[in-house]
Amino acid sequence: MGWNSWNMFGWQITEQKVRETADALVSSGLKDCGYNYLVIDDCWSQKSGRDRRGDLVPDPEKFPNGLKALTDYAHNLGLKIGIYSDAADKTCAGYPGSYGFEEQDAALWASWGFDFLKYDYCNAPTDQATAVERYGRMGTALQNSGREFLFSLCEWGGCSPYLWGKSVGGHMWRVSGDVFDSWINIWMPTWNTYGIGVDVSIDIAHDLHPYGSPGGWNDLDMLVVGLKGKGQIHGGGLSFLEYQTHMSIWCIACSPLMIGCDVRRMEQETAALLMNREVLAVNQDRLGIPGRRVKRFGRCELWQKPLADGGMVVALLNRGSSGQDVTFMAGDIGLLDSPKLVRDLWAGEDTADFTTQLTRRVEPHQTILLRISE
Ligand code: GLA
Repeated sequence: MGWNSWNMFGWQITEQKVRETADALVSSGLKDCGYNYLVIDDCWSQKSGRDRRGDLVPDPEKFPNGLKALTDYAHNLGLKIGIYSDAADKTCAGYPGSYGFEEQDAALWASWGFDFLKYDYCNAPTDQATAVERYGRMGTALQNSGREFLFSLCEWGGCSPYLWGKSVGGHMWRVSGDVFDSWINIWMPTWNTYGIGVDVSIDIAHDLHPYGSPGGWNDLDMLVVGLKGKGQIHGGGLSFLEYQTHMSIWCIACSPLMIGCDVRRMEQETAALLMNREVLAVNQDRLGIPGRRVKRFGRCELWQKPLADGGMVVALLNRGSSGQDVTFMAGDIGLLDSPKLVRDLWAGEDTADFTTQLTRRVEPHQTILLRISE
């Protein structure tokens, strides 16, 4: 769990914004909820290239005090801090990449005190063998760096990183292109590609549910919760219920939760979605089994995720455009006809217990999360 600079600030990332974000993670209570990684994405380095020793150089205008001062700042607040690079000669935004400099860059980041690397895959060959080789080189370099890193692979899923991510030292791997601040996919003329909408990620989360487990997670991408059309990624924003569905699916799927909005100016509604501790407990449950869809009811879906205490969470999700009453049976979630306790996690209340079946009204694009124990 943490925050990443890309969705909000893109290439306009600066030391000041990162410091203010670090402060806000603490003062808002987000850090206490578990959001403790502060990650600097693309565009942090000098675009013109490396220095005479071949080292990457922080952009002196954006980061006038260098990066060691920033990692110290984050660590003093009890945060961990992440950096970004790419497995080719250039990053997605055209800054120097790390291919061929893996050991040197990993040692530099370690000397600055970084704890996390997001490693992108723009400008690199798209065959699986090369991807495994390039991520493997960086995985080894991080292990040799003398510092513990969380290694976040950003290959977008095309080379099936969920099959080999752990073997190269990865702890999380993106499973799609960039998720935009939109319910449906949107055409991005500047990138000549589609930006993924949250509705599409829901299917990806289900399809790849067998591949996430403790130590290596399917990464559904940074959260768009709270962006509301602001920030440098596009999409126009989601409704409150859509953001709630987004959060519900990322939690039930055990995806990393990397906030993408401006937490310095977080609206109450956004805080409520990001800081519901009972919902976050679903994401962080130590059993670590990603949830999956178990039944469809027209455009509505029933999802299920087992929990470490022997209970489970179910999600009732409506992907259609009209409200629907959904009735599911105990047998649909593998339970016997015996009394069950039900807690509605978004409403924060114990609710209609059931023995055989339960009916709930689900509004368009809404997700209801129910924690069920026998
Ligand atoms: C790719 C990644 C994004 C972000 C940008 C930065 O698009 O998927 O998450 O890191 O590059 O340029």
